Amino acid sequence: MESTRNRLIKLLNQEDNYISGQQLSDHLNISRTAVWKHMKELEKDGYEVEAVQRKGYRIIASPDKTSENTIHWGLSTSWIGHQLHHYEEVDSTQDIVHQLAKQGKPHGTVVVADEQIKGKGRMSRPWHSPKGKGIWMSILLRPELSPVQAPQITLLAATVLAKVITSQSQLIPFIKWPNDILINHKKVSGILTEMQAEHDQIQYVAIGIGINLNQSAEEIPVDIRHKASSLRAESKEEWNITSTIQEILKQFESTYDQYAAEGFNYVKEIWETYGYKIGEKVTISTMRRTWEATLVGIEPDGALIARDSEGKREKLYSAEIQWGEGGYDAK
Ligand code: BTN
Repeated sequence: MESTRNRLIKLLNQEDNYISGQQLSDHLNISRTAVWKHMKELEKDGYEVEAVQRKGYRIIASPDKTSENTIHWGLSTSWIGHQLHHYEEVDSTQDIVHQLAKQGKPHGTVVVADEQIKGKGRMSRPWHSPKGKGIWMSILLRPELSPVQAPQITLLAATVLAKVITSQSQLIPFIKWPNDILINHKKVSGILTEMQAEHDQIQYVAIGIGINLNQSAEEIPVDIRHKASSLRAESKEEWNITSTIQEILKQFESTYDQYAAEGFNYVKEIWETYGYKIGEKVTISTMRRTWEATLVGIEPDGALIARDSEGKREKLYSAEIQWGEGGYDAK
């Protein structure tokens, strides 16, 4: 059940103009005194509420901190993030989203944390998630897909992040297959997809998104500084966590809806325009041989397609690519 506070924020959010105490009390089914008390609570949260006699209430500024309220305020989505859980500190937002999924929470539920103590990366690696320096977020999806199609959702998420970075800055993001976001050859963001499936049907997918947002170059751990960075270090500008989360959720929803309507080709085309080294030569090593290949694109099962010097195409599933030049050469 959504809290009265969240419903209040949504109502105030729908109105460009003032909304009267009576209208709020009718919509929320609470007394006008209760409306007034909620307004006072919002002010304590850091909102600036303007109250004008005979006109009503209007929010004129929201606080500079991330909370369920501040994310909801200004979030213009239809289904994503309506159920939103914000924590100051968690082990991992993935753990929380799995619990929520098992409790039956709906498609589009979002978990955000200021800090993760045991942030998880792909291949059981730790994910450094310092307090207030990045976006540590998990999205619960309940797609009507078979498990083999799950990689499509991860590829989709990567295109969303690339689009948001492009629209919010002058930076040029690339997606290093399958789903790392690179700026100037350094990783600034990663995606971890975990899935629960039964009888050839996905029960739910937990999409974990980590973005290094506001670490200075010196705050990136020394051992990975040659291959990792943050949006701030690359753009030389501070990023607003709340509005970037809102932008990601908005873009995620529209991309997902379009993918649901048009199918994987929609994602594939966008992914390939951002694809790192697509159309370029890389060295690929397998157990059997090492060969030079040109990267061509991606397949619906998430595989990367490479073409050898004789024009023969091969599908790649595991990380056996030497990406070559630049700071980022990790698998
Ligand atoms: C990667 O290895 O590139 C994936 C990193 C994914 C990190 C995010 S942060 C939010 C979510 N919670 C986690 O514990 N991991 C993911």
